[in-house]
Amino acid sequence: MVEHRNITSASRLSGEITVPGDKSISHRSIMLGSLAEGETLVRGFLHGEDNHATLDAFRAMGVRIEERADGALLIHGHGLHGLTEPEDVLDCGNSGTTMRLMTGLLSGQAFFSVLTGDQYLRRRPMKRVTAPLALMGARIQGRDGGERAPLAIQGGSLIGTDYHSPIASAQVKSALLLAGLYADGPTTVYEPHLSRDHSERMLSFFGADLRTFAGGVTIQPQPRLSGREVAVPGDISSAAFFLVAALITPGSELLIRNVGINPTRSGVIDILQAMGGRIEPLNCREVSGEPVADLLVRHSDLRGIEIGGDLVPRAIDEFPVVSVAAAVAEGVTVIRDARELRVKETDRIAAMVTELGKLGADLEAREDGMVIHGRETLSGGRVDSHGDHRIAMSMAIAGLRAAGEVRIDNTACTATSFPDFWERLEKVRHG
Ligand code: S3P
Repeated sequence: MVEHRNITSASRLSGEITVPGDKSISHRSIMLGSLAEGETLVRGFLHGEDNHATLDAFRAMGVRIEERADGALLIHGHGLHGLTEPEDVLDCGNSGTTMRLMTGLLSGQAFFSVLTGDQYLRRRPMKRVTAPLALMGARIQGRDGGERAPLAIQGGSLIGTDYHSPIASAQVKSALLLAGLYADGPTTVYEPHLSRDHSERMLSFFGADLRTFAGGVTIQPQPRLSGREVAVPGDISSAAFFLVAALITPGSELLIRNVGINPTRSGVIDILQAMGGRIEPLNCREVSGEPVADLLVRHSDLRGIEIGGDLVPRAIDEFPVVSVAAAVAEGVTVIRDARELRVKETDRIAAMVTELGKLGADLEAREDGMVIHGRETLSGGRVDSHGDHRIAMSMAIAGLRAAGEVRIDNTACTATSFPDFWERLEKVRHG
């Protein structure tokens, strides 16, 4: 769907907002709720297109999932072996998490299934999951030798394995942990840096036998998972747009309530604070095994910094909007060790360099990141989202600091993770 939005600069942002539920946690709540015995109630579920792809897939495998008037989901779990063969291809839409995690899960089922996705997802690398799953005995075929979807999976028995992942990827780790539920022995995944650990937390919360240690995690097979009540916190990746919006717009003061601040996800707070951003986590608490806080953010004079190493997986989805902050900061920002950005919903290094460049930002691409020279303001112009939700929203935030109007083409993709982004931005902006 083609749609566009026009953004003009804001004089300030103020007030209180919430952001929609965490996308990663929402996916996992459907998966584990379906594999559990008994009912799982999911409050704060993100009704975005990505999560609906997961929801539809589990419904297609026979799971009854009711949606309540307040948006909460009631999942009637079928137990670890209760899924049934889907009659048709499962469409993961734009969602890499749906496709990669389900590839692991479906490898252990006693049936055949096929996963596909939209034009962007069908271009993304899948061998990172199909290759290690093959080591566990999974039978998966895909285009390009198993590198690209559609993927056809003949589920069956799996062998527990030790796998050293060359990349810090929660999708790889989670695919193997879900397959490990069905293996004949323990499965251990090692990763070079800790990626988001929502799967580990939620598997433990539902009763799986799982042990984490420095550098890895081991799961025991065939657990009995029990239905739970899950309260999904607000998505820090969605809050990030408002954090940067308030930091770069003079006079702003914004309170973002109920945001998940899991340390494997909160790299964006560390990065923005290191740039001089005034962000205060208030009322820190733990909900359904996940740390949560309210974030108070005030306009700040930002300065460029160097970003790399284990900070990268902790902020992996936030680099588009971090690059906006860097584009109007004082001095130079260098982002390195972030090659993974090239295989996200789009090549986010190329997309941000091209689109921010159209607004007069001074930045250049590196193979594994970017170098950004900050400047006082950006100019107006016409930019494109490349069909990527986070590029669309990042460009909207850039528009708040542009001297002229910014037209963003191809904005319907924001429904992937943040269906009412534009309305929420309108609510807190002045001028
Ligand atoms: C996700 C993991 C990350 C992230 C994606 C969601 C998840 O991907 O970029 O948006 O829910 O597990 P990788 O694991 O490929 O880094």
